[in-house]
Amino acid sequence: MSAASANEMWGGRFSSGPDAIMEAINASVGYDQRLAPQDIAGSRAHAAMLAACGIITPEDAAAIDAGLVQVGEEIARGEFTFSPALEDIHMNVEARLREIIGPAAGRLHTARSRNDQVAVDFRLWVRDQCDAAIAGLDALMRAFVAQAEAGADWVMPGFTHLQTAQPVTWGHHMLAYVEMFARDKARFQDARARMNECPLGAAALAGTSFPIDRAMTAAALGFERPTANSLDSVSDRDFALEFLCAAAICATHLSRFAEELVIWSSAQFRFVRMSDRFSTGSSIMPQKRNPDAAELLRAKLGRILGATMALFTVMKGLPLTYSKDMQEDKEQVFDAADTLMLGLAAMEGMVRDLTANRAELEAAASAGFSTATDLADWLVRALGLPFRDAHHVTGALVKLAEDQGCDLPDLSLDQMQSVHGQITEAVYSVLGVQNSVASRTSAGGTAPENVRTRVAHWKEVLG
Ligand code: ARG
Repeated sequence: MSAASANEMWGGRFSSGPDAIMEAINASVGYDQRLAPQDIAGSRAHAAMLAACGIITPEDAAAIDAGLVQVGEEIARGEFTFSPALEDIHMNVEARLREIIGPAAGRLHTARSRNDQVAVDFRLWVRDQCDAAIAGLDALMRAFVAQAEAGADWVMPGFTHLQTAQPVTWGHHMLAYVEMFARDKARFQDARARMNECPLGAAALAGTSFPIDRAMTAAALGFERPTANSLDSVSDRDFALEFLCAAAICATHLSRFAEELVIWSSAQFRFVRMSDRFSTGSSIMPQKRNPDAAELLRAKLGRILGATMALFTVMKGLPLTYSKDMQEDKEQVFDAADTLMLGLAAMEGMVRDLTANRAELEAAASAGFSTATDLADWLVRALGLPFRDAHHVTGALVKLAEDQGCDLPDLSLDQMQSVHGQITEAVYSVLGVQNSVASRTSAGGTAPENVRTRVAHWKEVLG
């Protein structure tokens, strides 16, 4: 047969072919052709199992396998003509297989349905994307750790409300993101482990009467085990939702650092310089260095979150088992995954190339009375004041400095004592930003020695 249309695959009971509009709304091959490698791997595993279980002959299985390899090569070389009339990747592959090997191709679909076929293809694809995200996150974390190592003791302002709060170290700020991305990685690992069950063999929805060996196909495709319930196998897409949720959280983290890069690279902050490789110029303002990549990364979360919402909306309220609604799962996930992988790579490049402006960071760290908390803590430690009183005294000292137009360390001892008579010369030792960060040695605190210990930990973990 010419296998020109899907009607020839399933149209035994139909007297006319589909309307052109029907074909247009129904066809998914325009995008699900991305599943070709997974589809062929799934079919090869299925055919081998059918032969091993005596359901098809070894000769037919060999012909099917060789034919599938050829189809895969044609697709990889871009020599394959995808036909929308054949609806989806599954029927395109099978139709071509029939052209190559003849009627034996018709035996491949024994004990199988497109419902379990697409479920296994999509799981394999999403599983690969989990691996890609994990690899991308590893590379990104290494870039942040390198920044942290270089600047373990560089002082910068730490912010709350984007107002100067307390001095922190550059290394500590970089490692904050490493913690976030490590959790993102763990989310992808968890999702991968949970999705690593093989739905193949669930057939249309109820299983099959053929004596198949589902453990064999599961093992061949690298799954831990076959799924346990055929209805669940063909009708859930929670694995894709989980991937999207992990991607959305990860993209949220990316967007937060992207935002910091946008702020930090501005002429008002000058905390960092983005490399030429990750900056763009303006067509009218010659002085401009725009952080376009960071801005785009800040925005990309929108697409990923949109895809997540879309798939939740597709899946919500669907009765078991498969409904064609579920064909709408793929494009969103493809786009979200592409966006995430590009985002991870772009962020890695930006972070690797990033130059921190150490002098500017330190100057900014000293501004805004950033060591006021250190002063209050000193009043508690040295003079035994209750913290609330120390806070009040410090507030008065900040006000005095503000009125004098100077910083806290610039106040004379007399001026200090005019606010609290017991203050001594020793107070000046806690007012420097270097002292401030060095003192923050509590577990998880910003002290350079903590940063160095944590850098060593991450270098060990990340290899
Ligand atoms: N292209 C379909 C999809 O992506 C494959 C499954 C079709 N199954 C069916 N019974 N029509 O969901």
